[in-house]
Amino acid sequence: MALPVIEFTNIPSHRKNVLELKPTTRILGTGSYAPARVVTNSELEKVVETSDEWITTRTGIRRRHHAAAHETTSDMAAAAGRRALEAAQLSVADLDMIIVGTVTPDHSSPSCATAVQHKLGATDIPAFDIAAACAGFVYGMTIADQFITTGAARCILVIGVELLSRVVNWQDRSTCVLFGDGAGAVVLGPATMHRPGDVPDGPRPGILASQIYTDGSLADALQIPAGGAARPLTVDELEAQENKVQMVGQDVFRAAVKQLTASSAQAMKAAGLVSRDLDWVVPHQANMRIITQVSQRLGFSLDRFILNLEEYGNTSSASIPIALDEAVRDGRIRPGHQVLMCALGAGISWGAAVVRF
Ligand code: UT7
Repeated sequence: MALPVIEFTNIPSHRKNVLELKPTTRILGTGSYAPARVVTNSELEKVVETSDEWITTRTGIRRRHHAAAHETTSDMAAAAGRRALEAAQLSVADLDMIIVGTVTPDHSSPSCATAVQHKLGATDIPAFDIAAACAGFVYGMTIADQFITTGAARCILVIGVELLSRVVNWQDRSTCVLFGDGAGAVVLGPATMHRPGDVPDGPRPGILASQIYTDGSLADALQIPAGGAARPLTVDELEAQENKVQMVGQDVFRAAVKQLTASSAQAMKAAGLVSRDLDWVVPHQANMRIITQVSQRLGFSLDRFILNLEEYGNTSSASIPIALDEAVRDGRIRPGHQVLMCALGAGISWGAAVVRF
């Protein structure tokens, strides 16, 4: 059977370009926001029966940031989004879409992205949430890439944001010490757009590969059981804190090591790269032991990993974009660098992407 012929007539010029040349989507700017309040492991010793020694050796986390009482998820997301727009030297008017990865939205409905859109002063452009937990940012980037590649959108703000300190059970030491609050963002646009600092005559920057996965059979391993339509909150459920995060840590740990390794290898293969071609790995920051095992299985030394879980704990969908923004701003990630990102969380959902800066 003959393959259909793609006609490029009547397609806007920027769409023609993106269809003809890969990569089609690039990062134009990054931004992040962390609440001012820093909570140390020692402070948590006063809240639950734990110790700095246990948290540090079992997870690598030393501190995390907690939102102030007046702060909301959309406040943090908008702050990170503004910084990403500034870094991209673009304005809100340049955006065609806002995608927010979060499992801690301001309200069950409408989406957190609607509040972010309003706070940023954007109007009419589509804004929606992705509830892929810790993989939310990789999901958001992957979806945005599709819109930009087809020419349906030119510039998209992708944000990962969580306010987990309000949804953990402060009597459950196995989860409450792990999580933190914060937001990270990127502005994505056509790979044909040039940025100051681009490597002259270097290979085109952009998303070289981006792949996402879900295995719903493991949904019970990490969840907030009650408070949704399946189990509306009752007084008993509220008292039992069934509306708070619950995790079977070791099940998630095993899945993370396996799937982060496999999806990273797959994304590198799709990008046509091997280990030595990568400058950095920005992993989801959940547990230093997971990251170490993934680094060993992939054959990457840990000094090629951008790590900040010591400072932030696990910020779910915000963890990759916060780490990415820090590394771009302090000059570790530079134009021309090739970076692997990988994340796994509730769902379980996971994914990996390879991006050239
Ligand atoms: O971001 C989404 C993805 N999430 C993840 O990737 C997290 C994956 N899981 C993990 O990182 C680890 O499983 C945890 C950090 C959550 C737990 O570490 P673990 O080595 O798997 O510990 P465990 O659950 O097997 O518990 C070992 C012991 C238990 O005590 P017993 O039964 O051996 O007496 C726990 O009660 O550690 C105890 N424990 C604690 N002790 C002090 C659990 N939490 C604490 C704590 N302080 N905070």
